[in-house]
Amino acid sequence: MSKLFICAVAELTIVKKEAEWKKTSPLKVVGLFRGRVRRLQEEILRLKERENAFILAHNYQVPEIQEVADAVGDSLELARIAQKKRGPDVIVFSAVDFMAETAAILNPDREVYVPDPTARCPMALMCPREVVSEAKRVHNGVPVVLYINTLAEAKAEADVVCTSANAPTIVEKVGAERVLFGPDKNLGLYVEKITGVRVIPVPEDGYCYVHTMFEPRHIARLRRRHPDAVVMVHPECTLEVQRGADFVGSTSQMYRYAKDSKHEKFIVGTEVGLVDRMRREIEGKTFIPALSRAVCKNMKKNTLEKIRRVLLEKPPENLVMVPEDVANKAKRSIERMLELSEKGK
Ligand code: 13P
Ligand code: SF4
Repeated sequence: MSKLFICAVAELTIVKKEAEWKKTSPLKVVGLFRGRVRRLQEEILRLKERENAFILAHNYQVPEIQEVADAVGDSLELARIAQKKRGPDVIVFSAVDFMAETAAILNPDREVYVPDPTARCPMALMCPREVVSEAKRVHNGVPVVLYINTLAEAKAEADVVCTSANAPTIVEKVGAERVLFGPDKNLGLYVEKITGVRVIPVPEDGYCYVHTMFEPRHIARLRRRHPDAVVMVHPECTLEVQRGADFVGSTSQMYRYAKDSKHEKFIVGTEVGLVDRMRREIEGKTFIPALSRAVCKNMKKNTLEKIRRVLLEKPPENLVMVPEDVANKAKRSIERMLELSEKGK
């Protein structure tokens, strides 16, 4: 049973107990649940003010976290905000490890906390530093472009970092015939297809377990059911799934594409959190998850309770720490990406 499910059941049990205690009709349980969320949100907003804190949340975070965040976005937008934001003493980064690490590297004088230090991206873990340095040894002189979904120790080995929003742009700007690229093999294939630059995958077969759940048959079935819908998918999906889509882009690129489009119905091939955000914020349009079980359980480890605890207690185990030498090297490859990628790409 997933931890997320257990937490939801535990939450509901507390609320049910409250309902029994107050002799409230079970029909009001949902109302009490919402009331509890609202109270937590209000407390977090007060604490945020008191601690001069800034909350960044990824598009895959649950709606109640997105609602208290100062900014919600994809990895590129959040990295840009983390780089530019002046003022707050503390950043709480609600996402997974590599995004918070990036913010910490760009903000050596600020404290960056994560709500749950065990919220890690398994794809980032597929590309430890040694794998990159070995690939560099074998392909001596070939530039290294690493996806932002890597740990700082790997970024420290890269010439430049990229995100799903700017990977083809960055690879083109590197200006080489071949690049070492990792860890996501599917994003690498997408880059190769768009740019014509030969991509050497590092490691051989890195992947995201959420985006590789999508299969061409899922898209085909939904297309038959909704012939008027536009299909959008993330470049971490396989090339076969990408071929069946009308638009391929990062989470925020999909968001903007749907918002600005004249079309009204969209099939969304990424983690379901983005669908929640689009349904909540883009009025008058219909969003259909390409697969409702496409849930990143790592992203979903974060909760309002954990954010409140971080703001209240600042637990040392939740503080993001990157050794200075690693941070300095990784910072160069992140800053190079931010320089090379223009706004909106
Ligand atoms: P985006 O940068 O497109 O939001 O992607 C991050 C990610 O982890 C996708 O799985
Ligand atoms: Fe990592 Fe995939 Fe989760 Fe994104 S969706 S954080 S790539 S596991």
